[in-house]
Amino acid sequence: MAAAYDQDTLFGLLAIDEVDRADCARLLERTDDAEQVAPVVAALRRSFGSFNQIPVDEPTQDPLVWLKAFFTLTPRVVAWSRRHDIPDRVIRDTLADVGRHLAISRRVTGEFGLQTWRWLTYHFTVRIFALGRLQFALERAAPATEVDGVIKAGDWVLAVHIPESGPLLPSLVDESLAAAKQFFAERFPQHPVSVVTCDSWMLDPFLLDRVAPESNVGSFVRRFTPIGHSSDGHTDALYFVFRTRDLSRLDELPRDTSLQRAVLERFELGETWQVTWGYLKL
Ligand SMILES: CC(C)(COP(=O)(O)OP(=O)(O)OC[C@H]1O[C@@H](n2cnc3c(N)ncnc32)[C@H](O)[C@@H]1OP(=O)(O)O)[C@@H](O)C(=O)NCCC(=O)NCCS
Repeated sequence: MAAAYDQDTLFGLLAIDEVDRADCARLLERTDDAEQVAPVVAALRRSFGSFNQIPVDEPTQDPLVWLKAFFTLTPRVVAWSRRHDIPDRVIRDTLADVGRHLAISRRVTGEFGLQTWRWLTYHFTVRIFALGRLQFALERAAPATEVDGVIKAGDWVLAVHIPESGPLLPSLVDESLAAAKQFFAERFPQHPVSVVTCDSWMLDPFLLDRVAPESNVGSFVRRFTPIGHSSDGHTDALYFVFRTRDLSRLDELPRDTSLQRAVLERFELGETWQVTWGYLKL
């Protein structure tokens, strides 16, 4: 195992906010969780570098046990990434999602926690990379996302994700897509990719009619060709726009922006937001 980092280095690398550092330090100092953490570390290591061909087992659903496992595995993630010539900037930008998601959890619940620990299993099995504004996960296409002449089940594709890190300017999206094309061809030529997929509530056609066509969101969504596959998104849209999944709070949520109004309108119509799939060619 790569050598552990000192606390400041670790917390700096994971971009953990000051307000979360004391709780993280306490978590690191705990020794009574070793028996729970070990199987989680083992589950992540089994899947490590397999780009999700080996799914991650979930020996527990305790978020802080997962967080402790992420801390434990950080040196290994960095060592693996350096061996694969991943630039330090990309490693840092990718791992900064830990601090970002601790901050989101605090905003949502008012306390220290990591509601989205499952999402961070991508980072700690080294299957996702932040390249500029967007994040890209290398993975095999599922049968449900086949498109004649474009995507076959089992093809390597890049699933794109949008972190909450400022406006989604088209120029930044262009730069990220260009960076992804070069990065994956150079670093992982054994897994050739030519298609980016997106599965998101943002691709639900309901949204496109309700945000300005020239908006960042509208321009992003229009880059994708529908794959013709979708599933119920339940409270996803609510969570991403309002950071709550509490349907009893709809009346009190703000309606200041077109995005907020669109999300609420769909619930008020008694409809379900769809997680819709689309693709674009790199
Ligand atoms: C996706 C995201 C980057 C878009 O931000 P953006 O570039 O500022 O969006 P736009 O400029 O196109 O905004 C279009 C409209 O939506 C509003 N809007 C954008 N993001 C918003 C948010 N998080 N909450 C409320 N309103 C938002 C804008 O104010 C604008 O409203 P208007 O038409 O009334 O002026 C931003 O919403 C975000 O960070 N979301 C969280 C991450 C996320 O949703 N990821 C996708 C997960 S599947």
